[in-house]
Amino acid sequence: MLKQVQHDEIGEAFMTKARVAVLISGTGTNMAALLYAAKGDACPYEIVLVASNNPEAPGLTLAAAEGVATWAETHKGMTRDAFDALVDEQLRAAGADYVALAGYMRILSEAFVAGWQGRMLNIHPSLLPLYKGLDTHQRAIDAGDSHGGCSVHIVTPTLDDGPVLDQTPVAILPGDTAETLASRVLIAEHQLYPRTLAAFVMRERSPDWLLGRVRELAMAMPEAEETLSHGMPCFGIVKGKKFAWFTEDHHRDGRTALLVKISGVDEQAALIELDPDRYYRPAYFGDGWVGIRLDLGDTDWDEIGEWLRKSWLAVAPRKLAGLMAAADEF
Ligand code: GAR
Repeated sequence: MLKQVQHDEIGEAFMTKARVAVLISGTGTNMAALLYAAKGDACPYEIVLVASNNPEAPGLTLAAAEGVATWAETHKGMTRDAFDALVDEQLRAAGADYVALAGYMRILSEAFVAGWQGRMLNIHPSLLPLYKGLDTHQRAIDAGDSHGGCSVHIVTPTLDDGPVLDQTPVAILPGDTAETLASRVLIAEHQLYPRTLAAFVMRERSPDWLLGRVRELAMAMPEAEETLSHGMPCFGIVKGKKFAWFTEDHHRDGRTALLVKISGVDEQAALIELDPDRYYRPAYFGDGWVGIRLDLGDTDWDEIGEWLRKSWLAVAPRKLAGLMAAADEF
């Protein structure tokens, strides 16, 4: 059963919580900050798994005591690829949509990073791009910097690289050692990580962001145009039929979804049976259309592109459709 952010007093539309797995190697205070933030009803994510490459990591005990599933196995004696594949299996089995690295002191294999592209965040104790790697606080002090700090970034194949989502500068005090600075930076980390993760998972559920993705894919179809119909953005062929609608909380149904053309009632029923959380029969559209929710946090955008293509083909005049078929042959 998917957990949902609770309705607030003014009846804001409901939304399913993003499922986050946290990877730790040690104390896990950042993991604890994420976990306690997630206890708030309005928090847009829940922690579904805390996993570690160190079975002795103290954070595991805390997570288990808080009722969060844990998994740990030592990476010793395994290749990086084999160990990461094992971790990946656990994350997928837990149904994680996102991964938060929180003091996970392992270099990740390329395949693992690729598998979570755009869905894995890391916190690093420096103002990136300064001081990647280890010993960040001492390096900031030695350089005579006025501030150290911390950054949350999207994980890409290069270590401590990838787009920075947010960061907090922390003043370096006279007489600071790496330890004293680290302990203040850690306080900043505990504030920064939960709110950055929340904003990140919300972004992918925000109707504006979702419409932007749909628009990009729909407008890539030949002769496509965007119009507004019944208050909904919709995409059609110039001087022709409509092939997609974007709906946002239509009739206060709380859904952000894409409506595309399908072959008929049988396909519609099969899709709804296959994944009743995602597919639905759109009111007033009849059996020739299906609603595909975009606000579940795990949208496969290649698949959405394919749905749009099929929908476009279903309404395109023969001459235009022929052009697409010809293009596909190349
Ligand atoms: C944190 O300071 C985190 O930023 C750092 O390890 C510490 C883990 O503490 N991570 C890195 O250096 C990654 N490059 P925690 O286990 O108490 O969260």
